[in-house]
Amino acid sequence: MPVCYSGPIMADVVIQPKHFLSDKVEHFTESVIREMTRQAMLHEAVNLAQGFPDFPAPAEIKRAAQEAVAADLNQYAITWGAKNLRNAIARQMQEWQGIAVDPETQITVCCGSTEAMISTLLAVCNKGDEVVILEPFYENYGPDAVLSGAKPVFVKLRPPTAADGEWTFDEGELRAAFHHQTKAVILNTPNNPTGKVFTRAELELIRDLCVEFNVLAITDEIYEHILYDGTQHISMAGLDGMSERTVTINGLSKSYSVTGWRVGWAVAPPMITNAIRKVHDFLTVGAPAPLQEAGAAALGLPRAYYENLAAGYKARRDRLMPALSEAGFSCFRPRGAYYVMTDISAFGFADDVAFTKYLVKEIGVAAVPGSSFYNDPRDGAKQVRFAFCKRDATLDEAGKRLKKLQNL
Ligand SMILES: Cc1ncc(COP(=O)(O)O)c(C=O)c1O
Repeated sequence: MPVCYSGPIMADVVIQPKHFLSDKVEHFTESVIREMTRQAMLHEAVNLAQGFPDFPAPAEIKRAAQEAVAADLNQYAITWGAKNLRNAIARQMQEWQGIAVDPETQITVCCGSTEAMISTLLAVCNKGDEVVILEPFYENYGPDAVLSGAKPVFVKLRPPTAADGEWTFDEGELRAAFHHQTKAVILNTPNNPTGKVFTRAELELIRDLCVEFNVLAITDEIYEHILYDGTQHISMAGLDGMSERTVTINGLSKSYSVTGWRVGWAVAPPMITNAIRKVHDFLTVGAPAPLQEAGAAALGLPRAYYENLAAGYKARRDRLMPALSEAGFSCFRPRGAYYVMTDISAFGFADDVAFTKYLVKEIGVAAVPGSSFYNDPRDGAKQVRFAFCKRDATLDEAGKRLKKLQNL
């Protein structure tokens, strides 16, 4: 039996269509990357859009997760993270980057690095603060800044030229973005979508601006173990003068091929950690307890595991790039992470969105339109990103389908 509301109503109140909505959600769109995955499923396309592996996660860590569930580690962990996992994170930062971290006061384990990033921004930003973001950027950062009340300020990474061969920023443009209202700069190295790995000189330049303008660096280092061509990952927090003004974000998703586990973390000085922990507690209470235990096992894997991980991704990069070039794309060679950004000028489409729609429907391959990584969509109108965190058979099938583009 339907129940009819019969209480008082304010007769002359007309509910406007957006009456119940926050103005904040007006300032960003739904994730284009996640939408492309849905499109891939709809059109039975090979999904080279979203960055998740289609091959199995390491057997040892799956076993550790099963054992944790069987041992009944099934209730809330400590809100800021299971002790075993925090200890393992501190140990890894010491071993790989020489950075000393107190697991009791400096680490907050979250539901993925996605939550670590938004919790951090909510914890540090006030309305009117500015957050500098280098673009193209991982698409969450813009909405994250808006949700935290801050204003994102974008600075370009320019595509490689024949002279420099690497994506890089202009020092003057970056300096011009820093001033007294700047609260933080968001960095991502190794970078999604460009594959750039920031050099020590570039990080030092950013460090100098952070110190001069009293700005926090929030660095997303989720691809730290996925490096090619002899590049080296350098953590901003390890640079002189940065330990007290850096939040390092990382997680299990990419290093251990478990994007669905939703375990990530933020490492920060104690006072900032306190603030992040408060936000995190009220947002999610905690990350999945048994998967945190499995995470501690994952972080204990030997160095050979990481060497194989990087070698496996290098082989996948070197498998996909020739297929893309043959099909007519100009590829920007990634030095880290697992994406190839491409230039699509040769195909003569109106823009990247029209092109990716054609690609998913007519060619059967899903990719991400470049515009979703820029504030002004026109800046990415000639770019498209492909993910290569896939089995050889998946990459080969994509390559086969992309060959059809040669007949355009
Ligand atoms: C740069 C970057 N940061 C964060 C994430 C999301 O990480 P998580 O699964 O830990 O939330 C991604 C996923 O693609 C990413 O590319």
